[in-house]
Amino acid sequence: MVVKDVTTAPFLDQKPGTSGLRKKVPIFQQPHYVETFVQAILDTVPGHEGATLVLGGDGRFLNREVVQTTLKIAAANDFGRVLVGQGGLLSTPAASCVIRKHGAVGGIVLSASHNPGGPNGDFGIKFNAANGGPAPESVTEAIYARSKALDGYRILDVPDLDLDTIGTTQLGDMSVTVIDPVADYLDLMRSLVDFDAIARLFASGFRMRFDAMSAVTGPYAKAILEGALGAPAGTVVNAVPLPDFGGHHPDPNPVHAADLYALMLGPDAPDFGAASDGDGDRNMIVAPGLFVTPSDSLAILAAHAHRAPGYARGLSGIARSMPTSRAADRVAASLEIPAYETPTGWKFFGNLLDAGLITLCGEESAGTGSDHVREKDGLWAVLLWLNVLAATGSRADALVRAHWAEFGRDFYTRHDYEEIDSDAAQALMAALRDRLPALPGQHFRGLTVESADDFRYVDPVDGSITERQGVRIVFAEDARVVYRLSGTGTAGATLRVYIERYESAPERLELPIAEVLAPVVAVAESLADIAAITGRTEPSVIT
Ligand code: G1P
Ligand code: ZN
Repeated sequence: MVVKDVTTAPFLDQKPGTSGLRKKVPIFQQPHYVETFVQAILDTVPGHEGATLVLGGDGRFLNREVVQTTLKIAAANDFGRVLVGQGGLLSTPAASCVIRKHGAVGGIVLSASHNPGGPNGDFGIKFNAANGGPAPESVTEAIYARSKALDGYRILDVPDLDLDTIGTTQLGDMSVTVIDPVADYLDLMRSLVDFDAIARLFASGFRMRFDAMSAVTGPYAKAILEGALGAPAGTVVNAVPLPDFGGHHPDPNPVHAADLYALMLGPDAPDFGAASDGDGDRNMIVAPGLFVTPSDSLAILAAHAHRAPGYARGLSGIARSMPTSRAADRVAASLEIPAYETPTGWKFFGNLLDAGLITLCGEESAGTGSDHVREKDGLWAVLLWLNVLAATGSRADALVRAHWAEFGRDFYTRHDYEEIDSDAAQALMAALRDRLPALPGQHFRGLTVESADDFRYVDPVDGSITERQGVRIVFAEDARVVYRLSGTGTAGATLRVYIERYESAPERLELPIAEVLAPVVAVAESLADIAAITGRTEPSVIT
């Protein structure tokens, strides 16, 4: 076996964002670009000699090539074993599951999540730690620092490996085991939700559609929904992972999963609709005639989780990212368990989960999860919903309405201004921050500012402080606006504006969302001077 030491100048732009290093494909195709970043990751893993690494990705363009490269670099860097998903595939939650189950020091997951793929789309490389969760900021900073200091990498000079046949082969002194990407994950799901009850539900004629969006959850959903649970063939659509996701954004929301959304809101809706994203960690839930916001979904799952065997003992606590609606907090209060508010990004849930302070957590961006892994988990959320529907015998839309009747409804929308000028975006946030001290007490179109700040998080477990996580303006009329800049975009800047209002009067629960939120939206736009500063009079995406 020939180990090659390749000398290269470092790249200075390998700074991981909200979820790993995410860039356009041509950037990753630069000679040595992937190699140096992988080397920087591996150099940062403590005690990797002889250790196990997990490897896989969402199947997007470059996935196979980067899997091969990573295997050869891992072998040259003294890893003992790599577990790689067959075909180079592993969903993000399945990678988390495999890392935890097999005692790996971590995993490298190749994905740009819900961003489009293909030769001109996005690619990404992220590192998950031994707990199965996204590397904490201290680690991603160390990887970045290492990437800037590297003068080369070590790689084994060998032909590509067969990634399609399950089994173990040797790569130098390292073994490579190609695993069934679904098996461990399926076992874990069986331990959490009542497969028999869900199978009975399908046998009784219950119908659903799961849209895998030509991304990684296709094989998982087929094996679990149509295989283990006996849902009719054809329940899972767009089930074959494609390198370019069929040219679509594999982002499960009403805009990008438009077909599913239209079906569910139309006259022939099945009983339940769901979708997942590129790497399988996000989920969309649609009841017949009713889109379930991710914030509501988290709250509803929290209220009913005890019906699933894995959560029968109840929940220790619930966490949500700051921009997520406060619906889950209301459930936590009624269960008399703690509610936590974290910055955007799944990594902030890790400490809370590891310390056992929370059982469920979620984000408004279609992320829901629990302590079973350290990533959000799209298919898990779908299975837990199915378990709840089977256990209650309730229709999905009726379940949502009953929840509102009990807890009130958090009307919610997010406006994204994509690919705006980065300087303009920074200027907008700076201007907002400057105004914060003066805002409380001010009136805007019938709304009174109660408090205004830039979210600062103190981690209750390790005391670490994360600042400037989004400007939030809370109004006395039970409304709130949050502004923050995306940390996952790959072109220009994306301004996200999160708008919500709580209503509990029975006659207001079914009002059109636009009507309830219109005054808050107007204040959100004018307060930040969005049109003047960004030149945009409309958001690019409303979810
Ligand atoms: C977005 C979402 C965030 C999620 C992240 C990774 O990050 O807003 O909730 O954790 O993707 O899926 P953002 O682009 O807003 O930084
Ligand atoms: Zn994702």
